[in-house]
Amino acid sequence: MSDTSLDSFAIRDAAQRLERGELVAFPTETVYGLGADAENPCAVAYIYEAKGRPSNHPVIVHVAPEADLSHWVSSIPDDARKLIDAFWPGPLTLILKRAANIPSAVSGGQDTIGIRCPAHPVAQALLRTFKQGKGGIAAPSANKFGHVSPTTAQHVRDEFGADRSGLLKCILEGGQSEVGIESTIVDLSRGRAVLLRPGHISAERIAEVLGSMPAMPDAEAPRASGTLESHYAPLTPVVLVDSGELGDILRKLHAHDRRVALMHYRTSDKAAVAHVAMKDDAAAYAHDLYAALRKMDEARADLIVVEAPPTSSAWQGVNDRLRRAAHDSRGVLNRLLEK
Ligand code: TXA
Ligand code: MG
Repeated sequence: MSDTSLDSFAIRDAAQRLERGELVAFPTETVYGLGADAENPCAVAYIYEAKGRPSNHPVIVHVAPEADLSHWVSSIPDDARKLIDAFWPGPLTLILKRAANIPSAVSGGQDTIGIRCPAHPVAQALLRTFKQGKGGIAAPSANKFGHVSPTTAQHVRDEFGADRSGLLKCILEGGQSEVGIESTIVDLSRGRAVLLRPGHISAERIAEVLGSMPAMPDAEAPRASGTLESHYAPLTPVVLVDSGELGDILRKLHAHDRRVALMHYRTSDKAAVAHVAMKDDAAAYAHDLYAALRKMDEARADLIVVEAPPTSSAWQGVNDRLRRAAHDSRGVLNRLLEK
């Protein structure tokens, strides 16, 4: 992490901007967030405007480790307490019933609230300074709607640097996000635990704490933008290919003169116009994932081919993000192999 990461002047300036209703981008251990005062509906509206995100999508509220949760939620079920004790500060978001005094703007009008206490030292310093640690920072990932989440301050500048609306004037530095993919989301607002979004904290680790596996979302599960089919996507189409088929598909693509950018972890390919070697370990792969997708996007290839990683449970978060980035794999591949 850079020396500037705990720059108290920058943190005070960012906290004051939040208190004035401005937006601030800040690092967390998962991805960078685009923050606003969670209790200021106008400030929260700027988030939606800057991201180009529909306003009925709820955002996560970030709180300091010492925060009084009863300010934010109307009740804290036993399971929530257990998960908080086990995993906070850290990459876990809980969906709980929202306290009556909290504006519904942060929840996209739902009666719940997504809440998390981040582990990153810069995020914690910001949360402890903003409203003297009593505030909450509403923050989705600091990227345009549907695009790849940022894991460095430079990625945030790449997303919003040319933003004509100029809503984001302050980006806190905090090095590269350690985890690299968004927090695990567990809904506890409707009784039993439901895993809304897989992440670094796996379903197994949640089961070890709760005594049973979290359920998978059903039709009544709350809306979550990170659960849309096409999400986390670079501009270049992404195709996910099993290792066994990779050699054959690459040969066909090259025979059609297609410019291929390749993210591989076992099978390399000299004919690709760009490539990144990913690591054979779920946490290390997640750490590098979004930076690799951004780098492959810059190659201006016809497509990004991703060698599908293992499917064991430790890889659930990575596979979830890859599947969404590559939501139309077969269609893209078929079009590029026509003629
Ligand atoms: O790691 C993360 O969670 C990052 C960092 C910045 O903390 N944030 C993040 O935010 O990924 P975002 O907005 O990109 O994704 C938040 C997800 C969305 O899928 C949203 O729908 C869901 O959390 N969410 C937030 N509040 C919710 C609520 N009350 N009910 C259901 N889903 C909720
Ligand atoms: Mg996001």
